[in-house]
Amino acid sequence: MLFISAILFITIFNVESIEVSNNVCSIPSDFRFDCNPDDPSNKETCESRGCCWYPNKDDNGSPKCFFPTNYQGYVIKGIENRKNGVTVRLTRNSSSGLPQDVSNVNLEVIGLDNERVRIRFVDADASRFEVPMPFLNVSQSTINSPLYSIKINRDTGNLQVSRQSTGTSIFNVDLSKLIYANQFIQLSSLLVNNFLYGLGEHKDTFRKTIDGWKRYTLFAGGTNPTENINLYASYPFYLMIEPDNQAHGVFLLNSNAMDIITQPAPAITWRTIGGILDFFIFLGPTAPQVIRQNVNLIGRPVMQPYWSLGFHLCRYDYKSTNKTRETFFRNIQAGIPIETQWNDIDYMDRYNDFTVDPVNFAGLSDFVNELHSMRLHYVLIMDAGVSGSEPPGSYPPLDDGKKDDIFIKNKSGEIFLGRVWNFETTAFPDFTNPATLNYWTKQFIDLKNQVDYDGVWIDMNEPYNFHQIMPCPNNSYEYPPYTPGIQPLNNNTICMSCKQHGGLHYDVHSLFGLLETVATYEAVKNITGIRPFILSRSTFPSQGHYGSHWSGDIRSTWDFMKYSISNMLEFNIYGIPMIGSDICGFAGNTTEQLCMRWSSLGAFYPFSRNHNDFDTIEQDPVALGPKVVAATKYAVNLRYRLLPYLYTLFHEAHTKGDTVARPIFFEFPLDVNTYSIETSFMWGSGILIVPILEPDTKTVNAYFPEGFWYDFESLKLSVKSTGRYENITIDDDKIGVYARGGSIIPGYLVTAMSIADLSELPGYLFIFLDSSGQASGSWFSDDGQSIENIQNGEYTYSHCKASLNKISCDYENVFTANNFKIGGIMLVGVDKKPTSVLFNGTQIDSYFYSDENHALKIDSTEVFERLQSFNVDLSYN
Ligand SMILES: *[C@@H]1O[C@H](CO)[C@@H](O)[C@H](O)[C@H]1NC(C)=O
Ligand SMILES: *[C@@H]1O[C@H](CO)[C@@H](O)[C@H](O)[C@H]1NC(C)=O
Ligand SMILES: *[C@@H]1O[C@H](CO)[C@@H](O)[C@H](O)[C@H]1NC(C)=O
Ligand SMILES: *[C@@H]1O[C@H](CO)[C@@H](O)[C@H](O)[C@H]1NC(C)=O
Ligand SMILES: *[C@@H]1O[C@H](CO)[C@@H](O)[C@H](O)[C@H]1NC(C)=O
Ligand SMILES: *[C@@H]1O[C@H](CO)[C@@H](O)[C@H](O)[C@H]1NC(C)=O
Ligand SMILES: *[C@@H]1O[C@H](CO)[C@@H](O)[C@H](O)[C@H]1NC(C)=O
Ligand SMILES: *[C@@H]1O[C@H](CO)[C@@H](O)[C@H](O)[C@H]1NC(C)=O
Ligand SMILES: *[C@@H]1O[C@H](CO)[C@@H](O)[C@H](O)[C@H]1NC(C)=O
Ligand SMILES: *[C@@H]1O[C@H](CO)[C@@H](O)[C@H](O)[C@H]1NC(C)=O
Repeated sequence: MLFISAILFITIFNVESIEVSNNVCSIPSDFRFDCNPDDPSNKETCESRGCCWYPNKDDNGSPKCFFPTNYQGYVIKGIENRKNGVTVRLTRNSSSGLPQDVSNVNLEVIGLDNERVRIRFVDADASRFEVPMPFLNVSQSTINSPLYSIKINRDTGNLQVSRQSTGTSIFNVDLSKLIYANQFIQLSSLLVNNFLYGLGEHKDTFRKTIDGWKRYTLFAGGTNPTENINLYASYPFYLMIEPDNQAHGVFLLNSNAMDIITQPAPAITWRTIGGILDFFIFLGPTAPQVIRQNVNLIGRPVMQPYWSLGFHLCRYDYKSTNKTRETFFRNIQAGIPIETQWNDIDYMDRYNDFTVDPVNFAGLSDFVNELHSMRLHYVLIMDAGVSGSEPPGSYPPLDDGKKDDIFIKNKSGEIFLGRVWNFETTAFPDFTNPATLNYWTKQFIDLKNQVDYDGVWIDMNEPYNFHQIMPCPNNSYEYPPYTPGIQPLNNNTICMSCKQHGGLHYDVHSLFGLLETVATYEAVKNITGIRPFILSRSTFPSQGHYGSHWSGDIRSTWDFMKYSISNMLEFNIYGIPMIGSDICGFAGNTTEQLCMRWSSLGAFYPFSRNHNDFDTIEQDPVALGPKVVAATKYAVNLRYRLLPYLYTLFHEAHTKGDTVARPIFFEFPLDVNTYSIETSFMWGSGILIVPILEPDTKTVNAYFPEGFWYDFESLKLSVKSTGRYENITIDDDKIGVYARGGSIIPGYLVTAMSIADLSELPGYLFIFLDSSGQASGSWFSDDGQSIENIQNGEYTYSHCKASLNKISCDYENVFTANNFKIGGIMLVGVDKKPTSVLFNGTQIDSYFYSDENHALKIDSTEVFERLQSFNVDLSYN
């Protein structure tokens, strides 16, 4: 039978079974898939499952017990057409050996549009837990020229999604080896290349290696970042570059604890202990398009308030308002623009959420008002749970939560109590319960009356639990038949059999951070009416649609400084562009040299905050001395000069799903040299950032992709590259910031001590000509805080292009109360002074040419501020 769906190119066919060798177990070790990862794993169990037992073979991670070539766990019983796809009916033919095999699985293959395929495996006879995503855009659109073709082989059970144009197989699974039991689901796919990115959150490189066997455990956990341990978030998403430089992505929508295993074949195995398999395959064909496709599904990034792009200062244990003030002011006095001062949990009364220590933090409200009078901002921390042990009538967060019945319950239906920072016990609001939003909003209103915070930092929301004061029961949720790499699942969190509105904690655990972010976002938006800034430690796909993330409790080491770049690039591909690490490191004492280099790098995190731990030396720039002050000032000043550009990148992320900080290969997809670079990175398409990441050196061997690269500070053409490494020298207080020839960057000539002050300066369009004397770019501006301003048309968006002879900007939309006002143009890469400059046909004289850096500065605040499309014609004799 040959069946072809004309639109989707789904081919289903029977072929003669491929001749296999007599020995159904003779499979190269790189291609073996585990048939008995659960305990007990031994010859007897293995063989009872019809699998091959080779315990003495390579001890490199390859399984001892693996599927034979002729394994037939599920067989295809039928195939039916459905809109834009097919449903394949699978029936279990032999027991997997895991408890409670699902007998009938429906495999739904659905084309969503030309670039995206959804593949769902559901129980045909019963409903199972599915992730209650607060945002999931599964809109379908016309399929007229799909980038993919789908083939299903009835006999062998092979399902392949391939790239139509090249035949490259993207998703290549053997359905007969699917395991689909109640608490154990496993599927493997062959991969086409070893350029793999994603599968977070882990302390790892950005590019994942597949030359050996590796297990990635995904389950929200609060352990300090350590290799091979599940960290704060679960991102079952990867991006892969194919052999011919095209790219695809695969996202598994599943929130249960899981292992994802990569092996050298190369191949990948998803092994989750609940929910369903719900894959989204993105065909790109470029990496940035894959990210757009992913982010359009899970929600494009929220627009951040402009102030949040400033420099932030925090530490755990200032211990008092006085010390917070003192630290803030000494840095302001040193000329460091601190846009936002923060406090960690020490501001609270006995570490209870929504309280302020009346003794040590008396006067906090006055200090915050003083920050506001300077047009600066304030953010405070909030823990995931509230105190569970305050006397009735003394602590509304507990009383209200009991009254509203919004706390997470233990298995017997009583409020589950854990012990986090609170002195006695902690009760956890259930953010899967819609009623929790009102409760949460009320607490934030009460807090706003105590301290006029601008943003909220939510922590410990994996959720973390120091002590199991109510021991977890012994059942199959606490101790499932297979436990991914976390022992046990309930270690340092709440019990898996706790009851939540949205299901068992076992299923919704990894959603806590995301759903708390959504509630906090909605609460703060409701209270202030302007864009909320919400920073969360635990996250899940969709987080970027509401809030931001930082890399958590990293250590003050050179190694972690490098990791901060990998983490930043990774969260950008997850749709969370507002990301950064604690500058100079959180845990452990930093050093002057490390903090100096880290302050330079950290100024180029989209989210830029210096923060450190309680048992460490002070780490604000002034405390570390003049070298750190100089490095911070230099880098933060450059950042501020580039803020209109950074803000434009956030707009592109918000409206299109683009990344902000991005790997170089996103811009140079044909240059294989860039695929593994994670020691330098880009802001958008136009700025390359090259930090020093090693101690005791001023030199770095940095890769410059093909093109002209201008030093942004001096405007000099630094490197004309055909794609090569260059040794560059970067002084102690400096960092390499290069503008790419061909880009137009909105920015400033000078900087200011606050974003409000900056917004009053004349802005410039920095035009960097490429080797053919051309450049183009866009800029976006608005009031920096309104929520529906794009829908209301309250923004300016302008598209410009330039050559040696002509500069023109078209305004797609105009709004007058912008943060960014153009005062002039800086045209860089001009060999001689023009003899005339005409603005819309009228001669202007206010231009200056610098022989030294080949830059032409055209000033005319009055004409540019008209915010109308314009042409500048330049002529040279
Ligand atoms: C089902 O399993 C049996 C062994 O349990 C095997 O003989 C048979 O070939 C399998 N396949 C089908 C389609 O029944
Ligand atoms: C939903 O996804 C489609 C297709 O990717 C995209 O065009 C659209 O803008 C998305 N809608 C939202 C609200 O994100
Ligand atoms: C804070 O400083 C003020 C004025 O200098 C002083 O009166 C007060 O005692 C200090 N408070 C604390 C908790 O140190
Ligand atoms: C739930 O909490 C109640 C009250 O604290 C306790 O008596 C009960 O044993 C707990 N149940 C479980 C399963 O932990
Ligand atoms: C849970 O109960 C099983 C069966 O009684 C027992 O074998 C196991 O050791 C128990 N686990 C724990 C952690 O108590
Ligand atoms: C829980 O995890 C910690 C590490 O975070 C580990 O030291 C401890 O042994 C674990 N507890 C159990 C019961 O396994
Ligand atoms: C806040 O929520 C209340 C109650 O749902 C609603 O009436 C009010 O309009 C909201 N305010 C804003 C600014 O969203
Ligand atoms: C940091 O240094 C201080 C002063 O030398 C010391 O007291 C403290 O214990 C150190 N902290 C850590 C975490 O090493
Ligand atoms: C850059 O420096 C490295 C060692 O630091 C050296 O091996 C290499 O030759 C240098 N490259 C260039 C182009 O100077
Ligand atoms: C420049 O000329 C264009 C039409 O050529 C016109 O639309 C625009 O308003 C003029 N711009 C200014 C600033 O006068």
